[in-house]
Amino acid sequence: MKKLLLSFIVLMSFSLQLRADEGMWIPMLLQNNEQEMQEMGMNITVEDIYSINNSSMKDAVVLFGGGCTGEIVSEQGLLLTNHHCGYSWIQYHSTVEHDYLTDGFWAMSFEEELPCPGLTAVMLKSMKDVTNFVLEGVTKDTPNDERARIVSENIKKVKEEAEATTNYQVVIKPFYHGNKYYMIYNEVFKDVRMVGTPPSNIGKFGGDTDNWVWPRHTGDFSIFRIYVSPEGEAVEYSEDNVPYKPNYHFPISLKGAEKGDFTFVFGYPARTNEYLPAVAVDQEANVINPVSVDLRGKILDIYNKHQEKDPKVRIQYASKHASLGNGWKKWMGVTEGINNFKGVQKKKAFDEKFTAWAYKSRQRGAYLTLISDFEKVYAEYEPYRLAITYLSETALNIEILTFAAEFNKLSQVTKDTPQEEIDEMIAAAKEATKVFFKDYYQPIDEEVAVAMLTEYIANQPADFRPELLNTIEKKYDNVEAYVEELFAKTMFTSEEGIYQFLDEFKASKAKKLAKDPALMAYNNVMDFYLANVREKASDINSQIADMQRVFMRGQMEYYADQEPEKRMYPDANFTLRVTYGKIGGFSPRDAVNYKHFTTLDGIMQKENPDIYDYVVTDRLRELYENKDYGRYADKDGSMHVAFIAGNHTTGGNSGSPILNADGHLLGLNFDRTWEGTMSDLIYDPSICKNISVDIRYVLFIIDKYAGATRLVDEMTIVE
Ligand code: ARG
Ligand code: ASP
Repeated sequence: MKKLLLSFIVLMSFSLQLRADEGMWIPMLLQNNEQEMQEMGMNITVEDIYSINNSSMKDAVVLFGGGCTGEIVSEQGLLLTNHHCGYSWIQYHSTVEHDYLTDGFWAMSFEEELPCPGLTAVMLKSMKDVTNFVLEGVTKDTPNDERARIVSENIKKVKEEAEATTNYQVVIKPFYHGNKYYMIYNEVFKDVRMVGTPPSNIGKFGGDTDNWVWPRHTGDFSIFRIYVSPEGEAVEYSEDNVPYKPNYHFPISLKGAEKGDFTFVFGYPARTNEYLPAVAVDQEANVINPVSVDLRGKILDIYNKHQEKDPKVRIQYASKHASLGNGWKKWMGVTEGINNFKGVQKKKAFDEKFTAWAYKSRQRGAYLTLISDFEKVYAEYEPYRLAITYLSETALNIEILTFAAEFNKLSQVTKDTPQEEIDEMIAAAKEATKVFFKDYYQPIDEEVAVAMLTEYIANQPADFRPELLNTIEKKYDNVEAYVEELFAKTMFTSEEGIYQFLDEFKASKAKKLAKDPALMAYNNVMDFYLANVREKASDINSQIADMQRVFMRGQMEYYADQEPEKRMYPDANFTLRVTYGKIGGFSPRDAVNYKHFTTLDGIMQKENPDIYDYVVTDRLRELYENKDYGRYADKDGSMHVAFIAGNHTTGGNSGSPILNADGHLLGLNFDRTWEGTMSDLIYDPSICKNISVDIRYVLFIIDKYAGATRLVDEMTIVE
């Protein structure tokens, strides 16, 4: 009996812990989590994190560049984010003479900080529940299209009223799939300057090879600063602007963190889908992802083969490889994770419980057939989703086709088109040509074209085949023969030929352009998509969104009724959230155990001067050999580089501050372990871990490696 009781208690605390790590919480509503956070070790109050009346940590967290998170770490508006979040700005400022991607960049004075036109940092000032206003006039029985109309009119009205009384940006966003709406007031900073970045062999160490993978050794950080007018207003760049004085900035802890320590992450997660029915998860994990993974895998193999042979090609295809590879690796992890976890079966079990529950009360009529309706709609959706996947992963990854598409406008020019417009098109086409050929290697593209068209032809049923596929099958011996002819006949393979064509361009030549086989191929697949796929797919999509809204409402009622102690969080939607969990390693599979941190020793183990992703500079090696870590060393004497914890994060959380029990900065979140990437669909705390770069490594690089000590001096350091 005692034993039984014990295992019951263990089971109970296990399931409690299960919940503890999951969830992306709205900071305004964090009171509901305070007790749990404090029980897990937090020493501060949720009022310290989010306060409407007093300065609080929320005043130091921003949406960086529209897609990442950044945090303020000094009284002078100094901002930290990831290297991969600052990447395009580092690239923007790089030239052959000043190659900041390769060599890094450190502004040694305010004057040297570089303006980034178009870069914004968005700070939430306050938020408010406006559900009652937005859903005014809507009932459970309002038909969907009617509902959509009322909602969008109400939103417009509420937003306009708010805008009349504020200078802040006002946004209204749906939460819980449209069951709740919040209005958010933002301050949008428009003068954000680049202050520092490590070289890529630190900021991107491990590159795509290590991407999504633990153990990790990436110094994934870059430094910016917010500037405002002398009056303190968020204005566009001006020479007269001054560093922003924030209401709050994060103190930085040099104490490090131990296994089991409480942490929380504060940032802007973009998109999750935790409340889908089984059929949707199954389709994503077992139908769509495998197709994308397979197709991208074939392309990446071709890239790799050529990249290994030729260093020039390696650089040319580095960024293309990175963007294809990021999704490829992630989706593989999602599918494997869902299947190992028996995720679809677990969702199914819930769907059944939900339906059984719905049958128990007359009030729940809307939910009775919801699950079987989902099954029907998703079945109808599947071929359309596949058609979109095949189109975008095959045809649209043939570079010559998407490049040709840049000439579409020009190919439609007539003798009535004003010369001024034609000149503009020509200038744009020349620019596109320059950009294209800088990173183009035709042998890769030809191989990709053969491989992808072969897949497209083999895998799309009659109703979903653009005519091009049938033509290739009927008129050519094989796909190779078609591709050979395509590349032989198109004008788009010759950079000089294109410039010459553009220099001599007259309206009478537009027809010739329109007949180019690459442009024709592109238009053939796109026209087919526009005529036969797009509209129907988007209809089904909005039908699914309406059903998901009802399902979400149903799940909230279900839990309120069945497990009232369960707190529910809304799916990520690019709004500010708090998530919390403990530091610790995990076991990704039988017999394998991951420790929770990595060190500089690991960088030296991975070092390989011949492999681009694993180059180590002499400077870093020297610091390592002399163990010259100063106050940034861990108490074990080593230099800690990265660590993992059980925080529920997703894309957009990159750059987010990861904070300790006192709210002091421990590091910057930048990735997840790929075994746990399924966390966007189902969260399993035993494998879903976020990866952060240790703030002590960040400071070590700034201070010891780069000598940009002035930046560390303006931070608040807690030793
Ligand atoms: N996997 C991370 C994310 O989804 C990091 C991507 C950037 N790093 C890279 N090596 N490609 O954004
Ligand atoms: N690497 C992601 C980002 O850039 C974070 C993640 O997906 O965990 O936002």
